[in-house]
Amino acid sequence: MKIAILASHGGSNMQAVLDAIANGRLDMESSIIISNNRKAAALGRAEAAGIPREVLNGTTHPEPEDLDRAILAALQASGTDLVLLAGYMKKLGPATLSGFDGRIINIHPSLLPEFGGHGMYGSRVHVAVLAAGQTRTGVTIHLVDGAYDEGRILAQTPVPVLQGDTVETLAARVLEREHQFLVETLILISKGEIPLS
Ligand code: GRF
Repeated sequence: MKIAILASHGGSNMQAVLDAIANGRLDMESSIIISNNRKAAALGRAEAAGIPREVLNGTTHPEPEDLDRAILAALQASGTDLVLLAGYMKKLGPATLSGFDGRIINIHPSLLPEFGGHGMYGSRVHVAVLAAGQTRTGVTIHLVDGAYDEGRILAQTPVPVLQGDTVETLAARVLEREHQFLVETLILISKGEIPLS
């Protein structure tokens, strides 16, 4: 199974996946890394790992339809079977969504449907969790459809919110769990133990 990863910034989840592939825990091959952000640290990580990478955004393709088609073409040309959105901050277009229907997954740092949807990304998620006085939050991996954070949930794991947590301490705990859980979930997907369709 060839996995493409789309990332906009740090790419620490992407790195966890690349590490698991490199050390043989995860039986997948990375096909391509795509970013909308030419300054994304994720691109440097991809370069260090020797993985093909491409920057596709509104500058390279000013027309949204062209951008959508370029992303689809890059995924198809690289032989991609499965697409992972790992901190990808843009919505995919209809051509890519239908070309990879049921084969695009996203990782989100909360227990969806709670603390998801438009505007719920990055530290905003953890700010909202703390403001709501939650005692637990978590990680969700789900299929991607047209809407934000709304596709079928494939796997979830809880993460405790501790007394005295700040946005930073909570974010760090959730991100650490994301790295483990993403790899664990991809292993189950690769074995067919979590069916995508
Ligand atoms: C993660 O919290 C992920 O759940 C969310 O964006 C963040 C990406 O972090 N979708 P990184 O770029 O993998 O470090």
